[in-house]
Amino acid sequence: MSQASNSITKKTREAGDAADEYYIGLRRLEKTLPKWTYFDPAQYDRELKAIWYKEWNYVCRAEAIEKGSFRRHAIGDQDVLIVRDEQGNLRAFHNTCRHRGSRLCAAEEGSLSNGNIVCPYHAWTYALDGKLLGVPGLSLPPDFEKGAFSLFPVAVTVWRGFVFINFDSAAVPNFEPFGARVATLASWPLEELKLAHSYSVNVACNWKIFWENSSECYHCPGVHPELSKMAPIVGRGIMELRQDPNWQENQHKQHPRFQGGIAEGMKTYSLDGQTKGEPFPGLTEEDHRTGFGFRTNWPSVLFGANVDFVRALRVRPLGPEQTEISLEFFFSEENLANPEFDPKHNIEFTRRVVDQDISICELNQAGLRSMAFESGVLMPSENYVHAFQEWVCSRLG
Ligand code: FES
Ligand SMILES: [Fe+2]
Repeated sequence: MSQASNSITKKTREAGDAADEYYIGLRRLEKTLPKWTYFDPAQYDRELKAIWYKEWNYVCRAEAIEKGSFRRHAIGDQDVLIVRDEQGNLRAFHNTCRHRGSRLCAAEEGSLSNGNIVCPYHAWTYALDGKLLGVPGLSLPPDFEKGAFSLFPVAVTVWRGFVFINFDSAAVPNFEPFGARVATLASWPLEELKLAHSYSVNVACNWKIFWENSSECYHCPGVHPELSKMAPIVGRGIMELRQDPNWQENQHKQHPRFQGGIAEGMKTYSLDGQTKGEPFPGLTEEDHRTGFGFRTNWPSVLFGANVDFVRALRVRPLGPEQTEISLEFFFSEENLANPEFDPKHNIEFTRRVVDQDISICELNQAGLRSMAFESGVLMPSENYVHAFQEWVCSRLG
């Protein structure tokens, strides 16, 4: 995230009557964003320009783009082409030809013929560094210089095996954890993970609705009965000790109802809470006690890590009231090679929880249209929803 991301945290903290109010819970009645921000097309457009075209967007795993192949990624009305050059470096460009603006690659992914990018319209040919190599035709304008017609670059970076792009070609990679869920995942071997399963769902809600839902556990006791058993603090409607209004009294109680972490006797997010494989080597005792970690990189990805698997939940806006949610499930190579190990055991549990979130997000979106409703209010444990909304506002200026 860019430097400016962190300034909201600061602003909110300084504005409060306690230095760490942001982390404890809201102490005053805060309103939500006005309802129209969740369905107004002009607002959606403003958010694309101010947020989605300025922040780092998660695309896919680095190994998914091999030498000589390409992958497209669209956000709003912008389309990016990501390629890997002969030296193994990733490059990203606007998927638009410099001749008359044709889209260069139409397929979602594929391999590049002759290792170059060739426009399907008049066959202008570009090298994988974006330089214009060839212009067919009987003659060229006298002052035509190929060097002036390279593809428009898009910033691309890899964070621990995950590819991110940014339309702001001057953006500096900065993946400090920020937001509601900030586990560093330092002891998880993210670089070595292997993809076992992925799926995408189109959800009938504004992208902000999805992030707001992911920023609180006020909804968890009612919406996620299985998760509430697995992570007892969630069953109390909070995500962490500091959201407990009695946290000072409760901070020394070791039960996961107070400290967070996975329920006693449970090891991972799976249908029975048990793991059928080996946990990742290198996890700390604390990682095993907690059993899971979450890390948010607004606006495009939420990483969830358990002792034997990791998932990336990618968010992509498709329209004011349409959002694509994509999930990827990663495991260790060793567990996937073990015939006794069945990744479905973990996947099914997560899918159930995500499906519950999707249903409630769609219901939230549907209710906003009421002519009687203007905006809602936030409860103390929805402090990270407030932080998210502040972040959105700061981006919009
Ligand atoms: S638009 Fe690409 S070569 Fe003409
Ligand atoms: Fe949820």
